[in-house]
Amino acid sequence: MLGNFSYHNATKLYFGEDSLSYLNEELPKYGKNVQLIYGGGSIKKNGIYDEIIGILKENGKEIFEDAGVMPNPTVEKLREGVKIARENKIDLLLAVGGGSCCDYAKAVSVSVNCEEDPWEKYYLRFEEPECEIVPVGCVLTMTGTGSEMNGGAVITNHESKLKIGHVFGDEVMPKFSILNPKYTFSLPKKQMVAGIYDIFNHICEQYFSGEDDNTSDYIAEALMKSVVNSSLIALENPEDYEARSNIMWTATWALNTLISRGKSTDWMVHMIGQSVGAYTDATHGMTLAAVSLPYYRFIMPYGLKKFKRFAEEVWGIRAEDKSDREVAEEGLLAMENWMKKLGLTLKISELGVTEDMIEGIADGTIILDGGYKVLTHEEVVKILRESM
Ligand code: NZQ
Ligand code: ZN
Repeated sequence: MLGNFSYHNATKLYFGEDSLSYLNEELPKYGKNVQLIYGGGSIKKNGIYDEIIGILKENGKEIFEDAGVMPNPTVEKLREGVKIARENKIDLLLAVGGGSCCDYAKAVSVSVNCEEDPWEKYYLRFEEPECEIVPVGCVLTMTGTGSEMNGGAVITNHESKLKIGHVFGDEVMPKFSILNPKYTFSLPKKQMVAGIYDIFNHICEQYFSGEDDNTSDYIAEALMKSVVNSSLIALENPEDYEARSNIMWTATWALNTLISRGKSTDWMVHMIGQSVGAYTDATHGMTLAAVSLPYYRFIMPYGLKKFKRFAEEVWGIRAEDKSDREVAEEGLLAMENWMKKLGLTLKISELGVTEDMIEGIADGTIILDGGYKVLTHEEVVKILRESM
């Protein structure tokens, strides 16, 4: 049964080939000083940077560049960004990039007017912002995280070997996000497939929980089928606009709070994957891919009904005279074959994890209780070992 909930999405989206022109409609809503946040330079190579600088200048904005946001943004970088925003009295944080830039912008937005250390306040104590929040806008160039339409901001602390996400409320979500599927054409294949698996796993995390009949799970199945179908087309032809646009739109819906409404959720693949990321700095989607199969095979007996449904509805496995368990196993095998076709990394050892890290990764894994089985420390260790 659907539980009680409220639903509101605070982000305005502009989607399509001409979506960047809508930046002209958004910019006048904010003051003069814009902090232009971007990563390691991909936007300079593919021309997006020049286009955006042109639009900002046409709109009379003063631009304060904040470049070099790394994949898996760090707490040190966050402190730098906060300094830029404070010194220049920033009116709008404009993130141009993937989830890392967008998450980072949100983390800066809640920290500029806050005196406490953001890592301790938001990531260790999970407190909510009480200070004035600087608005964030996003031009997305990499698809997967859903950060363009949610309140999530994940920050990594290499010193304490922790990678933690805080899901903030409506007021921290981007005020607007611009999604042009063509911008994703220049992504290296590794990033494209990592993003595709991130999308798929966001849906799994919200699907593999509960035994009730609710609309959210049916929406989740449709989204999974769409991303699997488009992923195989994009793999053959990365410039297939239809496939890339479907992938981009599915990513947004996979994690914009819709499909978790009224139901319980799991999120343990992300918890283990994030801890792997804290130790290795590996690409987010790859950390998820590497721990998923051992995790799902381990919890499958506890959520057998849903795993059978997943096999039938998402992968077209026919029950015939097979047992429920056989059907469920075939579903996971179909998922594994798809993951192999995409070329995802299926072993944490290939991401740089060594035997001596296993205990620490398990210690850094936040254990949640929404899924089919509350894991023990030993079970996390076992799952990690199976991925070595
Ligand atoms: O830095 P540049 O040079 O721009 O290169 C980036 C980066 O190296 C490159 N890239 C992006 N767009 C490109 C491009 N290269 C060529 N052409 C383009 N159009 O791709 C690399 C990865 O970018 P990044 O932003 O790090 O990837 P992603 O979007 O996967 O973001 C990962 C971060 O988001 C967090 C992850 O933990 C990780 O820190 N997540 C955020 C979530 C949220 N807000 O809800 C949920 C997710 O589960 C996730 O945890
Ligand atoms: Zn993710």
